[in-house]
Order: sequence, then C-alpha cells, then structure tokens
Amino acid sequence: MDDRHIHHAGNFADVLKHAALARVVTHLQNKENAIRVVDTHAGAGLYDLTSEEAQKTGEWHAGIGRLLNARLPEEADRLLEPYLSVVRALNPDNGISRYPGSPKLVRELFREQDRLSAIELHPQDGEALRSLFDGDYQTRVTTLDGWLALGAHLPPKERRGVVLVDPPFELEGDYDRLVDGLARAYGRWQSGLY
Ligand SMILES: C[S@@+](CC[C@H](N)C(=O)[O-])C[C@H]1O[C@@H](n2cnc3c(N)ncnc32)[C@H](O)[C@@H]1O
Repeated sequence: MDDRHIHHAGNFADVLKHAALARVVTHLQNKENAIRVVDTHAGAGLYDLTSEEAQKTGEWHAGIGRLLNARLPEEADRLLEPYLSVVRALNPDNGISRYPGSPKLVRELFREQDRLSAIELHPQDGEALRSLFDGDYQTRVTTLDGWLALGAHLPPKERRGVVLVDPPFELEGDYDRLVDGLARAYGRWQSGLY
C-alpha cells in the first residue's frame, strides 16, 4: 500500500471510472427502491489537487483538468452530466481544487434511501474517509481488507446496487484475487452489478 491514491486523483483513469460509475448509479436510481453501493477499495474520499502530493505527479492536469476545459459535443456533455455536476458542485469557483473519489461521488448522487459501504485498508486514508463521512447515517466506513468484503458484506438488504472493486494492483496475485472475489460475490448477490 505504498502508492496512495492522492498521486493519481483526477487522472484520465479516474475520469473514465468515475464517469461510468456515476452513470451506473443514476441508472439504478431509475427505480424508486433503495440501492447499495459497496466500494471495496475506497481511498480517502476527497482529494486536494493543490496539495504537494497531487502536484508532485500532476496527473490530474491530463484528466479532470483537461476535461473541464474541453468543449464537448452535446451528447458527451449529457452523458457526463451526473459526474461533472458533482465535480462542479465541489468547486463552485470555476477552477478545480477538490476532486471526489469514488465514495464521495456516489454519496453526492444518493437519494435519501440509498446506502454506501466504503472499505479502505490504509490507516491514514481510512481515517480521512471516516472523518469525511462522520455522522452520515447513509454511509458505513470500515477499515478492513476489501477483498474480505466480497464475502462478509454481501448480500446487503437492498436487492439492487453496485460493487466497485478498485484495488491498486500492487501485489502479486491481485488479478487472481479479483477473479476469485467476483465469483464469490456474484454467488452471494446475483442481482448486484460488479
Ligand atoms: C485505486 S485506489 C482507490 C480509488 C477509489 N476507488 C476512487 O475511485 O476514488 C486503491 C485503494 O485501495 C487501498 N487498498 C489497498 N489494498 C487494500 C485492501 N486489501 N483492502 C482495502 N483497501 C486497500 C489503497 O490504500 C488505495 O486507497
């Protein structure tokens, strides 16, 4: 767990992942029933792009920085709207200094009935996540090995929802863990999206 997500927050891969995640969540909200999001490798939740760590790599310039400055065709604009509306709401002064990680993005899209389980193993990022969602009854933050959550946390009481598995792939065996974990999770919660 050497490579903290602050170094990559808002990069092109985050943009793609978060734009897709926002569409999945808003699609699930087409029905009135509550949804559950389980984020097994949640990160710190909210990132300061002006921080020394983010500036060191500067990856966000070619990701969210570039996207916010782009003139998009109308249809792309419409597809990106759920994602970009959250990013823009966090940055009311037009520039970009605060970038939402997956749990914060999802939480900002929630209706009152929706629930989030956010899991993060790194002590510092786990603490940041806990303090970000302190007092939020719709969110449960756990400091745990996220792979375990693919067993113990499923199925949730909500019938519909999504499991985001976003490990750093730093450890040998993470691809095998992903395959095994998804098979186990799907066996426990077949109406979930992965
Ligand atoms: C790619 S980042 C997650 C980014 C986040 N999902 C987002 O989109 O904003 C991967 C995270 O997994 C955490 N991590 C690494 N191994 C873990 C494990 N076994 N269980 C839970 N979290 C872990 C890292 O500390 C890091 O914060």
